[in-house]
Amino acid sequence: MSFQSKKFHILSVDDTETNRILIEKMLHGAGYEVTSAESGIQAIELLNNSCKPDLILLDIMMPEVNGFETCSIIKSSQKSMAKIPVIFLTAKSDIEGVTNGFEVGGVDYITKPFQKVELLARIKTHLKLKHYQDQEIELTQRELIYTIARISDIHSAETGNHIKRVSEYAKLLATLAGYDEEKAEVFKLAAAMHDVGKIGISHDILNKPGKLTAEELSIMQEHPNIGHDILSQSKRPLLKAAAIVAHQHHEKFDGSGYPRGLKGKQIHILGRITTLADVFDALDTKRSYKKRWTLNETMHFIQSESGKHFDPRLVELMVKNFRHFKKIRERFPD
Ligand SMILES: [Fe+2]
Ligand SMILES: [Fe+2]
Repeated sequence: MSFQSKKFHILSVDDTETNRILIEKMLHGAGYEVTSAESGIQAIELLNNSCKPDLILLDIMMPEVNGFETCSIIKSSQKSMAKIPVIFLTAKSDIEGVTNGFEVGGVDYITKPFQKVELLARIKTHLKLKHYQDQEIELTQRELIYTIARISDIHSAETGNHIKRVSEYAKLLATLAGYDEEKAEVFKLAAAMHDVGKIGISHDILNKPGKLTAEELSIMQEHPNIGHDILSQSKRPLLKAAAIVAHQHHEKFDGSGYPRGLKGKQIHILGRITTLADVFDALDTKRSYKKRWTLNETMHFIQSESGKHFDPRLVELMVKNFRHFKKIRERFPD
């Protein structure tokens, strides 16, 4: 999302009611969403619950826990609150206070009584900085995900756009199932990683034309566990989602899949969606072990496996909205 179109949320912390009202008015007027807290303790409580501001305005002189102490607690948290920029509001421009503020992790300070123009300009500057940093990190993550997915793809000699199509089908299914744009994007990126575990399987087994022996098959069926082992080391939400996908994309709705034989809703929605996206694309393309099926054959098979291999609700969504799947297919041909 671009900086201009994003609605930012600011947490304002001040023990004086008139200040809180004044700041709220200024920020609302400038189009920000505002939450006010009357103490450091209340601010931390809010942050520990569902309050996720993009920036915090923090008064220094407050009874009980002052602004510096509040900032220290926020910055030493293990949660995402530690990354939120904090601007201090100081009653007087005492050098000691300013130094202290930077030492505990503040990014800036504004001296009270402040000018509206100055307050808004500083807020905007720090929001912009944070926004572009976050964007850079996110873009790097995305590119890395596709790079890793491509490595495992080349290793297993997958057809050109398999990953791209599976990702897009997964995102479309997530959207049809009611997930918002942000969540659907997670489905898309996580689905790209479904076969990362194939990195741990020998090239000969992966590319053997014809049927695998029982032993080769059991080696091959280890790839969901390998993928899960690789990806579950990370604490990042996106990679955690990818770990679930890698682990569960060969489970079947009726419990007859592998590696764990999970059944129905025991299979995470990320897994159920990727399974349908992956099998649809595998049938719809030529592989070393099979010819390409016609669209009719593919859809007939998918419907016949509703409730067996696939989540029936997802099959229904796919059938009803098939024209959108066709468009993706045309956009990313091999
Ligand atoms: Fe797989
Ligand atoms: Fe696949």
